[in-house]
Amino acid sequence: MAENAKHLLLVDDEAALREAIAERLADHGFVVEQASSGEEALARLTDFAFDVIVTDLRLPGVDGRAVLESALERYPDIIAIIITGFGTVKDAVNAIKQGAADFITKPFQFDALLHVLNSALEQRRLRSENAYLRSQLEDRYRIDGLVGRSGVMRNLFQLLETVAATSSTVLITGETGTGKELAARAIHHSSPRRANRFVAINCSAIPETLLEAELFGHARGAFTGAVGTRQGRLEQANKGTLFLDEVGTMSPALQAKLLRVLQEREFERVGDAHTIKIDVRVIAATHSDLGKMVAEGTFREDLFYRLNVIPVQLPALRERREDIPILVQHFLQKLGAEQAPPRTVTMSQEAIRRLMGYAWPGNVRQLENVVERALAFSHGRTQIDVADLGPDIQNLPVTAETGTPWFPDEGIDLERYIEGVELTLIKRSLERTQGNKVQAARLLNLKRTTLIEKLKRLERGQLGVS
Ligand SMILES: Nc1ncnc2c1ncn2[C@@H]1O[C@H](COP(=O)(O)OP(=O)(O)OP(=O)(O)O)[C@@H](O)[C@H]1O
Ligand SMILES: [Mg+2]
Repeated sequence: MAENAKHLLLVDDEAALREAIAERLADHGFVVEQASSGEEALARLTDFAFDVIVTDLRLPGVDGRAVLESALERYPDIIAIIITGFGTVKDAVNAIKQGAADFITKPFQFDALLHVLNSALEQRRLRSENAYLRSQLEDRYRIDGLVGRSGVMRNLFQLLETVAATSSTVLITGETGTGKELAARAIHHSSPRRANRFVAINCSAIPETLLEAELFGHARGAFTGAVGTRQGRLEQANKGTLFLDEVGTMSPALQAKLLRVLQEREFERVGDAHTIKIDVRVIAATHSDLGKMVAEGTFREDLFYRLNVIPVQLPALRERREDIPILVQHFLQKLGAEQAPPRTVTMSQEAIRRLMGYAWPGNVRQLENVVERALAFSHGRTQIDVADLGPDIQNLPVTAETGTPWFPDEGIDLERYIEGVELTLIKRSLERTQGNKVQAARLLNLKRTTLIEKLKRLERGQLGVS
């Protein structure tokens, strides 16, 4: 397969026609995947950034229009070709208005489809303006700067809104860069406390000796250098929200004081006996496992339960790869608008495929940095391509499962499936090495003899001889 072969998703419920077209498209160098229903097409689009989608408008169940809408919304740069029945030009026109590149009417000759495809591919450049217009994210996929459309993120948005209405303490957990602070701000901004302050304090960034005074404030002369009386962050957050970041790093002494605030809603400034009453919503965040720290005796159990009234868990980016295209759109819009003069830029499907294949240990923050860098290296072009992603990205770990397999309702034959995957990868390695088995085996981390054995066995299996 050539490096820049176009990946195409073909959606049609007429199996014979679909298979015939798929075969001929493959002859013309397309890498074709087939879907026999709208539901299947939607599932495939979730996992993979196709360059082209060719879909029949008439499908049982989820119809072609919904497939088209989802494809364009997820991937503003995808090329969509619509297949319509005879005498349904109106549908075709609507599809074009929606953002499809072109349409073809059934019955058609294969060459006519090929022509439509090739001219759409040529016109891709002209259409990136269009793509940008389509890439304006809908509000339903974001709350307060938090973007996502995967199931986990939609559930999270709902949870945040529910939580916002209450004054309960929230504990946000998640790996670095997953959006913990953003989630805390979203809760505050959707809450009845939004007119008052959101005060953030990072417990790990302030030396322990200063943290107490920072949090509770101090009286004049409370310690060397305390020249005047000072309000702490807690008081500043009165009637608003206090965000305690990296709460796991707090010393035992401070943990005890914080517990009192949560239980009694009162405290004293350092060096002052006067008790102050306070009305504050506390949101804490941590990337460490507080439950484990409790078991190990480094975090107070009673404080843990006081903080963990409502747990909010932010998923790692690699667990919701389907959000990557929409996050890329979001960052391109945000960062593009900040440039002088403002720029409107999209990203090629191939570049998006690369980004979807990485494991992202630094999560969304790391993705944002990569997009920012790519934007800087795109030198005024309207489309970012793989080359702009830079060499660093190649060093990112790859996700264990690139392209989650489609799992049909009726189930699969696991062994045959795995054999199919093995065969595909072996064939790909042989294509890449022009049939050189020694090199192919090296690419697969196999012994040459093992490769040859596998190949023989698999091909026999495929032919049904086994
Ligand atoms: N779902 C999201 N949508 C849009 N931007 C996001 C999302 N999640 C994170 N970000 C962006 O990624 C960056 C990191 O987010 P944030 O600071 O909230 O992460 P964090 O979990 O607090 O990380 P850390 O543990 O390292 O402090 C920010 O620039 C934020 O805007
Ligand atoms: Mg943070």
